[in-house]
Amino acid sequence: MDLVLVGLPGSGKSAVGRRLSRRHEAAFVDLDEEIERDAGRPIPSIFAEEGEPGFRARERRAIEALGPADPRPGLTRVIATGGGAPVDPRNRWRLYRGRMAAWLDAPPEILAQRIRNSPVPRPLLSGRDPVAAMRGLASSRASFYEPALRVNGIVGLAGIVETLERHLDDALPDATLLLRATTILGRYELGDGTAAGGVEAALGRLEARRAILVSEPRAWEVAGSALADALAAAGIPTERILLPRGEDAKRLGIIEEAARELARLRAERTDPIVAIGGGALGDAAGFLAATWLRGVPLVQVPTTLVAQLDSSIGGKTAVDLPEGKNLVGAFHQAVANISDVRFLRTLDPRDLRAALGEAVKMGTLGDERLLELLEADGPALAAGDPAVFASGAMAELVERCATAKIVVVTADEREQGGRISLNLGHSLAHAIETVAAFRGILHGEAVAYGLRAALRVGVSVGATPPERAERVEALLDRLDLGCAALPYPLDTVLDAVATDKKHHDGRLRWVLATAAGWTVRVDVPDEVVVEAARSVLAGTPAAANA
Ligand SMILES: NC(=O)c1ccc[n+]([C@@H]2O[C@H](COP(=O)([O-])OP(=O)(O)OC[C@H]3O[C@@H](n4cnc5c(N)ncnc54)[C@H](O)[C@@H]3O)[C@@H](O)[C@H]2O)c1
Repeated sequence: MDLVLVGLPGSGKSAVGRRLSRRHEAAFVDLDEEIERDAGRPIPSIFAEEGEPGFRARERRAIEALGPADPRPGLTRVIATGGGAPVDPRNRWRLYRGRMAAWLDAPPEILAQRIRNSPVPRPLLSGRDPVAAMRGLASSRASFYEPALRVNGIVGLAGIVETLERHLDDALPDATLLLRATTILGRYELGDGTAAGGVEAALGRLEARRAILVSEPRAWEVAGSALADALAAAGIPTERILLPRGEDAKRLGIIEEAARELARLRAERTDPIVAIGGGALGDAAGFLAATWLRGVPLVQVPTTLVAQLDSSIGGKTAVDLPEGKNLVGAFHQAVANISDVRFLRTLDPRDLRAALGEAVKMGTLGDERLLELLEADGPALAAGDPAVFASGAMAELVERCATAKIVVVTADEREQGGRISLNLGHSLAHAIETVAAFRGILHGEAVAYGLRAALRVGVSVGATPPERAERVEALLDRLDLGCAALPYPLDTVLDAVATDKKHHDGRLRWVLATAAGWTVRVDVPDEVVVEAARSVLAGTPAAANA
């Protein structure tokens, strides 16, 4: 078995690793030493010559070079990592999967003191107040260390070694927790096969007497029923309410039926609702949680890609009316969001591909690494290729989109400011969905058309550099999103855009892409909008020739 040691600089990973490997005749890998050996120079000169990005790229390669986890029993290899290694999602996937990971946790003030007295140069801390710098690193990295076994790091070398040795015979779970963040919105956890543990812990924190599991038939089959079994095994009683599959769950009549079921079950304010399903189920069950007894705790267990990277985050809940989608709703933040990428393996490829429309939007808003990931693995992600589950690409996709959304929503919970950025591509997308009467086109597919329109508008008004627009459109081409011509009349679509305008004091606020981010423009000339809408409805030339 491999043991991975993570923690802040100065927490003793190398010293503990060396001692443990000697005591168990296990191999020892110090990743920083590997990087120095490979580069032929010490880390401070790598930082000086290649900057932090150069160092991180070397670090990623060194972690990849570790190869697969050693499955043999007993301690066979100890890996000491650099303090920042687990920040990168793919590094975490590689380090934590199939290995025992331990976090040597110590207060930043003590670590700052150790660093002051240590001869080892630390480029990230040089020239800064060590205590302030260490506190900053501690708070920004805790969620990446959290998945590892937390070991008290101030009990001295022998004490740490002794604690770790007590765990060496623990069975390695088949599940891998990748991220555990405590945000002002609630707890966010991401993992592979970790849903049951996450929900159990969330219910434990709520001191829940029982939980009401709200799901729909397909999500119940692939996720809910095993979750119910696991909760029963953990001694947590559950009740189950099944809503219809898909958009049919988002109706007031369905919410009334479900609320009456809650009344029959005598559900109390302390009985949390656990929403297990995709975006539609999450919106409906979230609305039920927001309104039953004026609000009960909600745990989101998203089971589709749309739900994991977008809809389960941010607290928007809603149901539809015949007059329009999402017209009745409430803001109700989930106390916990437990995202498990294993659930995504059974998704229909069309649902996966459509969800990537939103992912491309998130990347365009300014996550360079997300765009690169989509450029490299997009077609395989869209097809649900088993390779993207094995490589950690799917988990990285979910993490990058979900955490970006958490950052935006945390800064603007009620959509008064920066949250508008999430509307990039949505002006035309909403119009297309309305004209299509929400049939025949999925939301993410409509977003891809809307994103193309926003890029073309952005280039016309000088907000979006042409090369940025070309790059994102080329990515959409590769993903086969927003390519085919649409059968909706231009005038009807433009009318729908104009109706949307009325909701914003008569001026449509266009979110537009910039070189590496976004801006809002209210002065987009009508003829520019007409031309952008006309061109995207006509489809791309490649699609016409296909
Ligand atoms: N609240 C928000 O902020 C927000 C944001 C975006 C979208 N949404 C809403 O989300 C909905 C769309 O989300 P969606 O695409 O997840 O819809 P969905 O919930 O209808 O799920 C799509 C399909 O996947 C099936 N499914 C669910 N989990 C599965 C699994 N693990 N394996 C196989 N099949 C599975 C469902 O039965 C359904 O047929 C829309 O109603 C939209 O309005 C809300």
